[in-house]
Amino acid sequence: MKRLGVNIDHVATLRNARDGFHPDPILAAKLAMKIGADSITVHLREDRRHIKDKDLFKICRNKKIPLNLEIAANMQMLKIALRNKPNFVCIVPENRKEITTEGGLNLKKNRNKIKKIILKLKKSKIRSSLFINPNIHDIKLSKKLNSDCVELHTGKISDLIKLKKNFSKEFKKIKNCAKIGDSMGLEIHAGHGMDYKTTKILNKINEIKEFNIGHFIIAESIFYGFKDVIRKIKKILKK
Ligand code: PXP
Repeated sequence: MKRLGVNIDHVATLRNARDGFHPDPILAAKLAMKIGADSITVHLREDRRHIKDKDLFKICRNKKIPLNLEIAANMQMLKIALRNKPNFVCIVPENRKEITTEGGLNLKKNRNKIKKIILKLKKSKIRSSLFINPNIHDIKLSKKLNSDCVELHTGKISDLIKLKKNFSKEFKKIKNCAKIGDSMGLEIHAGHGMDYKTTKILNKINEIKEFNIGHFIIAESIFYGFKDVIRKIKKILKK
């Protein structure tokens, strides 16, 4: 069965709207694990618009929560990661003005920096992942950079599915990348923009081992509750 990582960034977004304590992302992390999540994801953005340093510190201190920390490819964020020691780190592109992570990493441009970061993560026994667009070139480059995993950006296929447009070309692209990456020894993850329908469709790709889902889970929980939403996704992943 594929693993589910629950991204709790937007619990912090809601808390920050009143600059207070509620809803507490740490409680959300604990609850998500109790309900059946396999790991928790947080993105410590450089502008700290949702998750704050104190959240990261508290989650990492709780050894019962397997944490996947998303960071931009820079040495300052790496320092924070190494200090907090999450179980996993996923390197993502970051642009101050974007609403969310808009695409995969530019591996070619950031090659040396990323290589250095992966090496340091390995020395600290932290699993590394690169958030990339689904193309074979980036899969091969991720392998060359010695990453443990890649996370395929599913934003495009998610948009196509939501707009009821033909998504078969994008599906084939993701499937092909997953197969080739897997055959090279990369662990394949996927995420961004996913909901029940996208999960059902992408669950058909055997090589994908983990999905990271955030916005939909938190937003849908307003109507149906955290428990029902996480359980429903886990049920899809069982099929
Ligand atoms: N995976 C990565 C690497 C991300 O950056 C994000 C968004 O922070 C997600 C998954 C989750 O995306 P969404 O919130 O759209 O489910």
